[in-house]
Amino acid sequence: VAHPRPFSSAHAPLPATYERINNKYAEVRRVLGAQPLTLAEKILYSHLDNVEESLLSNTNNGRDIRGTANLKLKPDRVNMQDASAQMALLQFMTCNLPQTAIPASIHCDHLIVGENGADEDLTAGIKTNHEVFDFLQSAGQKYGIDFWPPGAGIIHQTVLENYALPGLMMLGTDSHSPNAGGLCTITIGVGGADAVEALVGAPWELKAPRMLGVRLTGKLNDWVSPKDVILHLAGLLTVRGGTGFIVEYSGPGVETLSLTGMATITNMGAEIGATTSIFPYTDATGRYLQSTRREQARKDVMRLQEAGLTLKADKGAHYDQVIEINLSELEPHINGPFTPDLSTPLSQFKETVQEQEWPEKLSAGLIGSCTNSSYEDMTRVESMLKAASEAGLKPAADFYITPGSEQIRATLERDGTLEAFNEAGGVVLSNACGPCIGQWKRHDGVEKGTLNAIFTSYNRNFRGRNDGNPDTMNFLASPEIVTAMAFAGSTTFNPMTDSLTTPSGKEFRFPSPRGLEGPPTPFEEGKDVLKVQSQAPDPSVSVAIAPTSERLALLEPFEPFPASDLTGMRVLVKITGKCTTDTISAAGPWLKYKGHLPNISANTLNTAVNAATGEVNVAYDLDGSKHTIPELALKWKHTGQPWLVVAEHNYGEGSAREHAALQPRYLGARIIVCKSFARIHETNLKKQGVVPLTLADEADYDKIDAGDEVSTVGLYEMLKNGGKGDVSLLVKKKSGEEVLVKTKHAVSEDQAGFVLAGSALNMLAKRA
Ligand code: F3S
Repeated sequence: VAHPRPFSSAHAPLPATYERINNKYAEVRRVLGAQPLTLAEKILYSHLDNVEESLLSNTNNGRDIRGTANLKLKPDRVNMQDASAQMALLQFMTCNLPQTAIPASIHCDHLIVGENGADEDLTAGIKTNHEVFDFLQSAGQKYGIDFWPPGAGIIHQTVLENYALPGLMMLGTDSHSPNAGGLCTITIGVGGADAVEALVGAPWELKAPRMLGVRLTGKLNDWVSPKDVILHLAGLLTVRGGTGFIVEYSGPGVETLSLTGMATITNMGAEIGATTSIFPYTDATGRYLQSTRREQARKDVMRLQEAGLTLKADKGAHYDQVIEINLSELEPHINGPFTPDLSTPLSQFKETVQEQEWPEKLSAGLIGSCTNSSYEDMTRVESMLKAASEAGLKPAADFYITPGSEQIRATLERDGTLEAFNEAGGVVLSNACGPCIGQWKRHDGVEKGTLNAIFTSYNRNFRGRNDGNPDTMNFLASPEIVTAMAFAGSTTFNPMTDSLTTPSGKEFRFPSPRGLEGPPTPFEEGKDVLKVQSQAPDPSVSVAIAPTSERLALLEPFEPFPASDLTGMRVLVKITGKCTTDTISAAGPWLKYKGHLPNISANTLNTAVNAATGEVNVAYDLDGSKHTIPELALKWKHTGQPWLVVAEHNYGEGSAREHAALQPRYLGARIIVCKSFARIHETNLKKQGVVPLTLADEADYDKIDAGDEVSTVGLYEMLKNGGKGDVSLLVKKKSGEEVLVKTKHAVSEDQAGFVLAGSALNMLAKRA
């Protein structure tokens, strides 16, 4: 392990961010000596607020802090998408600061509906959402935050092209922010309250992650793409397998991957619950920096590495778990429906479809999105389209393409790829999320409630995620496999072995896809109106919120925690099965209320399944009357009845959506009790003053029912003691019987402070 050298006066200074990282890394080495570190540890520890205190919190060995120490980190920047930025900025505004403490950006991508094609959809989207875009733009001007207008691109692609740099640590208000881990950054998906901590310059807390090493050997075969690596891994690890871990890739196979391929893999680390994922710096990283016009940054990174912070794991670095994948043996995978970890190799998919009686007809194929719209992805698909077109074939199912950014769209247009999509009859949607986030207006006659199958190259496939239809089965695959299936119009087609019949009656077999890693000349910048608006903070700007708005509402602080344990709470609903952030706070049409807490709260838990009755979105009041879950929650809010929810595993799985914590808090939830939590959501709950408690014995799930009266025992004491101490629940059944249920918690000292103050924001506002 080389010890970092300070830069001598003979060197031109490094850019300020790298200078800071280099100095911090020197401190890390002073404390840990030559102890081998993983790449993730090197970058993470080089962003510690207090290196010594954090690394020596357990023993004199950095490895032992994993899973125990609470790291206080100073990220380099914050990136926010339009749906989550609204609440983040509303919270930031309550702190009354003139500007953000670190650089930040806003990306308008989630609110544009995919329907008729880019131009029409973008015009309609701007009209429908102008109030929100005006708010975001004016907040950007006031506080000096970069503003990417609607149509400029999807947050993760834009960040990859413009802001991500090897060695940086970033926060993003979106669960797929780890996309930038492909470019050797630590990027973590968080809720708006976490983002606000970083934006006001306060240290951001993270439980020191464990390290999951994925060693790649071999080289991908022709039909296999980087997407298949993560689809396969999701199948191995399940949606909970990465919880508490950073996934770090290494091995000779890494050198064979393109930069954008690595980003696809780290993007979908969110699907296994990982804190984030990261790849080392490779030649492909340097090439990508060059093609995105960042040659100087590439040189700076090389100098940072020469100074000692090599952007790969140290020899002998310890991983808590290691998985080996031989890329040469990997085959294309298809994951779904309804969960990203149900993984089937392509060769077995036909049989599985028939066994499971999934639809054999494919209704649509959708490629692109933040996950898979790289130059490599698109040119590989282009090679397939050209071959099919020469044979006189067109897609048999509807075919949609979502470019990830204006930069990629303009480059694909310049290089003729978009023409191939248009010729094939594909609909090129705007550079925005659209169908990936429930914003897909279908015109193919598939009504809500109709069972149908779609294939997408997106990253997530929860029920209702694309068109709001819970009966649309979304199968995730690489863009190449999605395209082949769209031409076949069938879910049982295998392009590696099967043929299609051309109009002239000949057999057509797709040739192996071929593409280019990146454009032969640097990326195009695209249309001027879609470029970033970047300016110094201007305090004279007033942030646009109309008092009568149905889409934006200023926030009121939550009440502080009472000076005693919680008593007299009632179980609003006991939930069975998956309860994702989509279940707790649905997207799709509800996205329009992201900046209006009272209005969006009307969707709270509206797809949750009642454990007692099996009904969706049904809860019963104490007098037996039937309500929707949000209706009963609102009724109890008005009568002052505090409540809790009981649920099963991985509660809050999915996105970083803090509304899933804010809404229950607004409606009167005080605690959530379940078998286990998803990491980001558990943190979000504490930030909003709701206490997440895990059942010490899972079997106790059966001891609590809807309507039971619950009091906490030891909660107040635990909070006062900075998170130390046990908490139990005294459950009073309708029969009068009382049951004591033991719980576990992961409340840190800072988080205890948030809960006592009523929310993290209450505390930050006071400090600011
Ligand atoms: Fe947008 Fe879907 Fe990516 S919602 S950010 S395109 S995961």
